This record gives sequence, structure tokens and C-alpha cells, in this order.
Amino acid sequence: MDAYQNLHVPSYIRDDNLSEECKNLISSLPKDKDLMGITLCNYKGFWYYPNTLQAILDVEKNFRPRDTDIIVASFPKSGTTWLKALVFALVQRGKYRANPKGHPLLHENPHDLVPFVDIDLYYNGQIPDLTKFPNHSLFGTHMPMSLLLETVKGVSCKIVYICRNMKDVMVSNWRFRGMLHHKDMHGDTLDAMFDSYRRGVHFYGPFWDNVLGYWKQSLENPKQVLFMRYEEIKENPKAQLKRLAEFLGCPFSEEEEESGTMDEILELCSLRNLRDLEANRHGKKTRFDADCSVFFRKGEAGDWKNHLTHDMGRELDEIVKEKLQGSGLKF
Ligand code: A3P
Repeated sequence: MDAYQNLHVPSYIRDDNLSEECKNLISSLPKDKDLMGITLCNYKGFWYYPNTLQAILDVEKNFRPRDTDIIVASFPKSGTTWLKALVFALVQRGKYRANPKGHPLLHENPHDLVPFVDIDLYYNGQIPDLTKFPNHSLFGTHMPMSLLLETVKGVSCKIVYICRNMKDVMVSNWRFRGMLHHKDMHGDTLDAMFDSYRRGVHFYGPFWDNVLGYWKQSLENPKQVLFMRYEEIKENPKAQLKRLAEFLGCPFSEEEEESGTMDEILELCSLRNLRDLEANRHGKKTRFDADCSVFFRKGEAGDWKNHLTHDMGRELDEIVKEKLQGSGLKF
């Protein structure tokens, strides 16, 4: 495949691990190319790389979470790693009090502690036996709400979604792709990325439909779906952590509030702390064919200004505003 030549392409982005059923399906789906010229196909309104679509089909058929499970959902590059760490630290907070040095977040990447349903568990034709998973399991996903909704029908598991300004998401993704492909990214790939976001043709996108699905569900079913924003957590981390804990049914006690438990969790999950840990500096994330370090970069709100022109930013803002019109959701 031409697009792969001279390019390091992680397996979830490829198209070499497909069942006959998936191949047949893909032959009938709308297709497009991403910024590197790699094929994306549109299934039920969202864009996927073929090997990931295979996993999505398996998830649709087989994934049934339990009432006690928690799903961390996001659009890629919106703060998934951070939210996974925060949720893990919150629900496990009693367990490691006596032995803080043994905390799994100090030794493992958050994506290993909270695996993606789509890109980890059901990847490569695997059908995991979820009955063997502990109650209160944590799962991650980038799947749109519309697909997830089918799998959680009748199940009261909690779903927490994180979103982020699309301009920062786009720039973060552009940088991420450079790291994934071991490639210096120049202006041509940034222009191609810009075009893909403008058109809504990007992995798990369109961005606005992914975000809107969770937004609407959070309004309709606020006990099941919590909608969070990267920028709000950065701006007011304690208030957002408290909100998250309350939603998950594990609110902070007065004693915890007074003894600084929230500060401890926020420090443990901070970008600076996670990025500098051995596991995240030198560990590997096999599914991504990548170093764990690729998940930690600047972590700033507004970094897009260092890469996009004012006009590019305005154009993306206008598109998002139009797409979200009438929903009550604003960026
Ligand atoms: P930047 O590329 O803008 O730095 P995701 O986890 O969804 O892949 O998102 C990655 C983005 O979240 C990256 O943004 C990364 O630096 C940032 N990030 C990762 N861990 C973080 C943390 N603990 N706190 C804040 N931001 C974090």
C-alpha cells in the first residue's frame, strides 16, 4: 500500500487484519484519505481506519458492560490520558493509602490501567471474556455515543466524556501523528490536517458529531453520562474533580477534603508527574506501536495559536459554531 511506504504505521491505522465480513462491508462504505494519505472509511456516520473498524464491529456485537463499570469516553487528543488517570485514582483512592509508593499510576501508563474497548480489548479479533473482569472495571473508548448507546442498553454503568477545543485537539493530533509515524511534520501535513478537520474527515470524527452525541446524552440522562471539558479541569481542577467524584458515586468526605486528598490525586495525575515517571518515559504502548511518552506533551489550552493563523482559527471556530447551533453547547 503506497501510503505505508517509508512510513511507520501502527497496526490500528492499517488495513491488514480484516475478516471477510469486514472487507465486504468496507467495499460498500464511503472512503477518504487522512493527512498521510491513509484510507479512512465511514461507518454509521463516523470515520475509522479499517483495522479499527474491524474492532468496532466486534465491540458492537460483543461488548456488554456491567452496571458497576465505568467508561471513560473522549474524542482523541481531548485529554483521555488525564481523565483515565483521574478516574482510576479517584475510584482506587482507599486502596493505596497505606502504600502510596505501590500506586499503579506510578508504575503503569494510564492506558494500560484503563484499556480502550475498541483499540485494546476487542482489537485483532480478540473477544475478551468480560465475566472474568472484576466488578467496577474501567474501560476507555473513542466510539461515538450512538454506537456506545447500543452496547449499554439497559445497563446503568457510568460514562464520563471529555472534550476539548477543536483547534487544540487538531494541533495535538498533528503533533501526535508526527511522533507515531516517526516523522518531522511540516506545513504541508498541518494544512492537510486543517483540511481534514474542516471537512470532518478524521479518525472517530466528525469532531462535532462525536462531541454532540455525548453532550445530548448527558442532558437526557445526566445520571449516566457526565460531560467534562479539558479547559475547565485545567482552570478549576478541584471543583471538577469533586464533580467527577460525586457523579461516580464516590464523593469526598469532609475528612478527605480537609486532609488534602484532592490535592494528592491532582498531583499524582498532573502532566508533570505522569510525564516524568519511568513507565511513561520509557514504556511502550504496543497497540500504538509507540512509546508511552507520546501521550504527554505540553498540555496547554490555546497551543493552537503557535501553529495556526488567526484566520485558520476563525474558520474552525465558525464551522464548529454552525455545527453546534441550537444544541446549547459552545466552545
Ligand atoms: P497536547 O498535545 O496539547 O500537549 P489524549 O490523552 O486524549 O491523547 O490527549 C493528549 C493531550 O492531553 C496532549 O495535549 C497531552 O499533552 C495532554 N495530557 C496528557 N496527560 C495530561 C495530564 N495529566 N494533564 C493535562 N494534560 C495532559
